[in-house]
Amino acid sequence: MPIVNRISALHEEVTAWRRDLHENPELQFDVHRTAAIVAEKLKEFGCDEIVTGIGKTGVVGLIRGKTNGSGKVVGLRADMDALPLTEITGLPHASKVPGKMHACGHDGHTAMLLGAAKYLAETRNFDGSVAVIFQPAEEGGGGGREMVNDGMMERFGISEVYGMHNAPGLPVGRFALRAGPLMAAADRILIHVEGKGGHAAKPHLAVDTVLIASHIVANVQSIVSRNVDPLQSAVVSICAFNAGFTNNVIPQTATLEGTVRTLTPEMRDFVEKRLHEIVEGTAALFGGTARLDYHRDYPVTRNHADNAIYAGNAAAAVVGEEGVIRDTVPVMGGEDFSFMLEARPGAFIFIGQGDTASVHHPAYDFNDEIIPIGMSYWAKIVENRLPA
Ligand code: NI
Repeated sequence: MPIVNRISALHEEVTAWRRDLHENPELQFDVHRTAAIVAEKLKEFGCDEIVTGIGKTGVVGLIRGKTNGSGKVVGLRADMDALPLTEITGLPHASKVPGKMHACGHDGHTAMLLGAAKYLAETRNFDGSVAVIFQPAEEGGGGGREMVNDGMMERFGISEVYGMHNAPGLPVGRFALRAGPLMAAADRILIHVEGKGGHAAKPHLAVDTVLIASHIVANVQSIVSRNVDPLQSAVVSICAFNAGFTNNVIPQTATLEGTVRTLTPEMRDFVEKRLHEIVEGTAALFGGTARLDYHRDYPVTRNHADNAIYAGNAAAAVVGEEGVIRDTVPVMGGEDFSFMLEARPGAFIFIGQGDTASVHHPAYDFNDEIIPIGMSYWAKIVENRLPA
C-alpha cells in the first residue's frame, strides 16, 4: 500500500495526539481545549493562516502550496466533538471525564487531519491552497451549519470540500462511498397530544391522551410500511413517550418525540405531510387534538458525482482499486457535513475501522491502525486535485 514514508513516520506522534484527545472529550460547541490544541499545532506546523472561533468554536488553517497557478482552495474537514456517554473500554487512554467519551471517533478524525496538515505544511507539493477545517458540534448541534453560516467558504475561497468518517464493520484498508445520497436527512419530531384529563374510573368523562398517543405511535408505522414505495427508503422512529404521573389519573396531555430519516427532498416532504395527516387525524378520531412540530435538522449528505470520483481515486491511490467500494449503500444516519456539501461541491467517504464496537457504543474506540491510511487519503486528495 503506497503510504509515503513521511506519513508512516508520523504514525506514532499522531496516535499520541489521538489518545490525548480521547482522554479529554468535550461536547457540542464546548470544545475549547480541543480547538486550542488544534490551533496551537497548526501554528507549530507553519500554517499560513489560522482562524479560530468560526461557527463558535471551529478552527480553520490555510496552507499554501509551492505555487498558486490554479487559484483553487481544497477544504478538508474533521469533527472535534464527543458524546454524552460513559466509556466502558477500561483502556489506558480511556476518557477521564465521566459521562463524556469519544464514542464516534472524532478524536481520530481530528488527529488524522492534524497529521495531514503537518505533512502538507512540510511538503507543500501542490498548486493552490488547502483549508483544514475543524468543526465543533457534529453530534446534533449543527457545527457544520454554523461554520458555513459564518461565511467560512467565502472567507477562505474554498472551491471544493471533502469529509471522512470511520466505519466499524468495514475492514481496515477499505474505503466506501457513492455518488448522490450517502447519508440521510435527519429531522426531529415532537408531537403534543391534548385531551381531557379525569378520573381513571370515569373514562367516559375524559379524553384519554395515553390511548390517543398509543394509536399515533402505531399508526405512524404505516407510513414506511404502506405509503412509501418499497424500493425507496425512509425511517420513522418514535423514541420518547411521556404521559401521566400516577395510576388513577387520566392525563390531560401526552408528548411523543422521534426522528425521521429520508434520502430525497421529495420523500422528506411526503413523510412530513403524512405525519401531519396521521397525527391530527388520529387525535380527531378519539375526540382530542394533536400538534406536530416537524423540525428539519440535517439535510441529506449528497456526494457530487465528479467529486465522488475524485475521492474514490484518491482512496484507490492509497489502498488500490480493490479496496474501494464506489457504490456502497446509503446509511440512514445523519451527518452535518451535509451543510458544507450544500455550499460547495465535494464528497464524503467512509474509512474502514475494522471489526470494532459500533459508533455511539460505550465500548467503542477509534482504531489507531488506520491513522496512516486516513492521512494518506487526505494527502492524495490534495495532490490529485491540486497537481504541482
Ligand atoms: Ni461521527
